[in-house]
Amino acid sequence: MKQLLVIISLSIIFFACDQTVTENQDPIEAKIDSLMNKMSLAEKIGQTAQRGTSSRVKGPLSEELITAVREGRIGSLINVMNKEYVDELQRIAVEESPNGIPLIFARDVIHGFKTIFPIPLGQAATWNPSLVKEGSRVAAIEASTYGIRWTFAPMLDIARDPRWGRIAESPGEDPYLASVLSSAYVEGFQGPDLTDPSSMVACAKHFVGYGAAEGGRDYNSAIINESLLRNVYLPPFQAALSSGAQTFMSGFNELNGVPVSGDQFILDQILRKEWGFDGFVVSDWNSVTEMIAHGYCANEKEAAMKAAIAGVDMEMTSQSYDHYLEELLKEGQIDVAHLDRMVRAILRVKFRMGLFDQPYRVDNPKAILTEDHLAKAKEAAVQSIVLLRNNEGLLPLDKRKKLAIVGPLADAPLDQLGTWIFDGDKKDSFTPLAALRQANGIGNLHVATALSHSRDLSEDKFATAIAAAKKADVVLFFGGEEAILSGEAHSRAHINLPGAQEKLINAIKRQTGKPVVLVIQAGRPIVLENISASVDAVLMAWHPGTMGGPAIVDVLFGASNPSGRLPVTWPKSVGQIPLHYNHKNTGRPADSTSFVGINDIPIAAWQSSLGNNSHYLDDGFTPLYPFGYGLSYTNFAYSSLSISNNNLSVGEELKVKFEVANTGEVRGVETAQLYIQDKFGSITRPVRELKAFKRVDLEADQRQVIEFTIHTDQLKFYNNKGELILEPGEFSVYVGSNSQATMKKDFRVK
Ligand code: NOJ
Repeated sequence: MKQLLVIISLSIIFFACDQTVTENQDPIEAKIDSLMNKMSLAEKIGQTAQRGTSSRVKGPLSEELITAVREGRIGSLINVMNKEYVDELQRIAVEESPNGIPLIFARDVIHGFKTIFPIPLGQAATWNPSLVKEGSRVAAIEASTYGIRWTFAPMLDIARDPRWGRIAESPGEDPYLASVLSSAYVEGFQGPDLTDPSSMVACAKHFVGYGAAEGGRDYNSAIINESLLRNVYLPPFQAALSSGAQTFMSGFNELNGVPVSGDQFILDQILRKEWGFDGFVVSDWNSVTEMIAHGYCANEKEAAMKAAIAGVDMEMTSQSYDHYLEELLKEGQIDVAHLDRMVRAILRVKFRMGLFDQPYRVDNPKAILTEDHLAKAKEAAVQSIVLLRNNEGLLPLDKRKKLAIVGPLADAPLDQLGTWIFDGDKKDSFTPLAALRQANGIGNLHVATALSHSRDLSEDKFATAIAAAKKADVVLFFGGEEAILSGEAHSRAHINLPGAQEKLINAIKRQTGKPVVLVIQAGRPIVLENISASVDAVLMAWHPGTMGGPAIVDVLFGASNPSGRLPVTWPKSVGQIPLHYNHKNTGRPADSTSFVGINDIPIAAWQSSLGNNSHYLDDGFTPLYPFGYGLSYTNFAYSSLSISNNNLSVGEELKVKFEVANTGEVRGVETAQLYIQDKFGSITRPVRELKAFKRVDLEADQRQVIEFTIHTDQLKFYNNKGELILEPGEFSVYVGSNSQATMKKDFRVK
């Protein structure tokens, strides 16, 4: 018995030692242990504070801020954009604060730093993750030379409402495309090695549901049931985490009645417990104290408590943690172990990015706006451009044609950069007009932009534009919206071309009859209903960034064949919104054979539900252009669809094979898309869902067999209890060039 006890106690000791050894085996965790042992409570709370200045203020810094850094009461700074301040503040933190914990300098580096790439919605239109990755790598290389090692990107809010200004920053409406791009962004920002001084820690934002703001009004409430949340809104965030994103940002919005900055279910249950996230969560700007306005917390102290308990580790700009965490700890409303978990998460990321070894900025002015960066930005802009309409093959243009250059965005160097470009400089922009003037062989330009900005209502210069159009063979109308009309806080109820643009386009058409090419630069799809009859070709260039001009010119003249595809559904009218391809069928699915239009109803008709399915009498049920849509200067034909098995067992793979041929006369890139419909389920399923896509570059007459592999895991979905399930039954697979593809095969899962 004695022997047995000895063995048991020895093994307990051995086990206990082993546990300690295991815990300390991770060198980073061991370093955090030893640092945490030395930190005072004030310093721990200090790590949870992100302070800073507005994006426009370049200094001087307040004495109060400097003292707080010296005392170790700040963990991160946002928007410190003066290199000297960055260096000095970091020196103070490292050399003078109690434990020398370095600061992380943060900034919104969204689609480029100095070299501006297309807005994220434009980058999504490339359907090209490697290009997106290269773009975010470029942004990190440039921004890190200013000491910015943490970007508040990628923005991963699924957006189904183009009235929402922040759709410009989003990856669009589809969870699969958004997830693929999410990984690309994270890999690009963070680079292959987080400790490399040119890497930036990514921040997946806004977690979660911000894009579902009611009516597209920014900051508004979102109501998303659990299956929709998990099937549509969460996947891009999970992809970011799988690709190594170290930080998440809790959004401004409330979700199902709880502001997400105080939502334990989202920040703790899902993010930490289910997904195993061990980085840290930062609140959005003041979103902790905004929980008071939401009506969720009565005062700052309650806001601090709810945010901390829910899982916000670092508070951006508001200071409720600074003011109340200590008191809350003393009162036992939050326990020290909880604060320790928060601080450990922040320190973990700082260690992972090598800040303790190399806290200082590595300057490299030559890394800014390099030829290589500009070439990449141009390529991204080229690939983001979507050709929406091309009546009678108007495009590409012959360089010898006489061109009228009209419209407010022909030469708008600031606006082409788009929203969220704190550091981009309009002086570096290459505008369409400048590019047209510099291009070889385009000599015949009649320039009369006529409107000075997109909201310009003046008709004073209409005559000059009409005169230019009369002299020309083709009118190039550069329209759209200024950068400031999309992005944060800039939702619009009318998403047509603002100002007098529509009037001018219609006047030109009416008075000259000349073919009109509309080149749109905007942060969202633009409703074309008032000008549809006046425009013969439409190119969507989004806000294309620094190199927008040459990119647009290359596409206009055919040096590049447009290959962008819509990452969002393009509505005919605002009244159709929200409109997205992956909707439900309803009990009365809309159908063109039984469609009843407003004029089909007899005057004084008896009450009836004539045309009884889900549509608008006046705008039908189809969008102007569907998700995934985009034309090319060539044509592509799909054929020979086959599937490997029409009766799959769980765990098996389905091979989907088909051929794409370039049947036109020039080389072009097609984006082959595969959609799946799960026909019947324990909860209703979308009419189709994107599951795979591939860009294929084909010479004229070339054909290629494409094979996609779909594992039955990809057919799983979340039910209303939050369970990920695969339900046996009937499925259809569609392949084609957009979400309305009709070529399909049916299969079963048994
Ligand atoms: C508010 C925005 O919602 C967020 O996206 C951004 O990162 C922060 N401000 C910091 O500028």
